[in-house]
Amino acid sequence: MVEVIEVRSVSKTYQQPKRFPGVLGALKSLVTPEYTEVKAVADVSFGIRKGEAVGYLGPNGAGKSTMIKMMTGILVPTSGSVSVLGCTPHERRMEIARRIGVVFGQRSQLWWDLPVADSFELHRRIYDIPAARYADNLRRFAELLELEPFLDRAVRQLSLGQRMRAEIVMALLHDPQILFLDEPTIGLDVVAKDAVRRFLAEVNRERGITIILTTHDLQDIETICPRLIMVDHARLVFDGELGRLRSALGSARRLTLEFTTDPGPLPLTTAVLTADDGLLKHYRIERDDVSLVDVLTEVGPGREIKDIALEEPNIEEVIRTFYQRRNTAVPA
Ligand SMILES: Nc1ncnc2c1ncn2[C@@H]1O[C@H](COP(=O)(O)OP(=O)(O)OP(=O)(O)O)[C@@H](O)[C@H]1O
Ligand SMILES: [Mg+2]
Repeated sequence: MVEVIEVRSVSKTYQQPKRFPGVLGALKSLVTPEYTEVKAVADVSFGIRKGEAVGYLGPNGAGKSTMIKMMTGILVPTSGSVSVLGCTPHERRMEIARRIGVVFGQRSQLWWDLPVADSFELHRRIYDIPAARYADNLRRFAELLELEPFLDRAVRQLSLGQRMRAEIVMALLHDPQILFLDEPTIGLDVVAKDAVRRFLAEVNRERGITIILTTHDLQDIETICPRLIMVDHARLVFDGELGRLRSALGSARRLTLEFTTDPGPLPLTTAVLTADDGLLKHYRIERDDVSLVDVLTEVGPGREIKDIALEEPNIEEVIRTFYQRRNTAVPA
């Protein structure tokens, strides 16, 4: 498969003017400005193949938006190289713009005072989209995301969820090969989030559009993105499948056993006791090769169990464990 995005040893350092307190301080900043450097992206490399859907994840300030801006040509890397569809984005902004779609969750690209349909029409003209193609796309996308009821309403009157759906449709009208989304589900309610996720998963699957999205919502990754790139303090810390992350961290399952009579402390070799509430005992099964049956066999037939609950680790837990381990391994 062809790589549509290649990011090689990319760093981005922002120069932030230092501020000094008071009038004299303001004057000093004007006359002899001093800068502090903020390293937003540090030596990040990855490649994305045509048709992939990749989630870009990391805590606040980790450098996600900065990376999206470099890939879409809005920002120039301080060092390293970015290649999108064979071009350097900031050098070929116009050409790249025709071949990619961009959605910023925090900033609208629609015309605030115009009806949604008019923004779309302007987009059609700017991008010179063939009429039949445009009509086709609009019909299909508007139907999937249920835009019809508010196509004639001014953008400023829309709810956040309605606006976001319109933003995503607009970004796709010109048939981009790659869709970049910076926090597309931020602030949406569960229903809108679900609609957006299913839609993105579908355009990725059906049209083969490559998707790269940043998010804080791990459910987005679980629904849309088989591949996960994680950044922390400007650096890339993980690139691979969510499943691989899970198994690398050990997929500890949680087991709760409810007994009819308290068996007393029950030391087991197959599971680790994490809390003992008498009749209710909580365990962690740390090894993948241990099954529930193994644990129950060890508990023994003489003890009557009233109820059993076994929980798989969820994605939030896996990611939290990942960042916690990093933070204890590498003191800040
Ligand atoms: N224009 C700018 N000038 C100076 N510093 C900036 C600028 N934009 C971002 N930064 C800094 O660069 C770092 C990375 O910012 P970025 O917006 O890429 O993070 P992010 O991962 O998108 O965070 P969030 O999850 O909060 O959106 C932060 O420390 C931020 O303060
Ligand atoms: Mg951001």
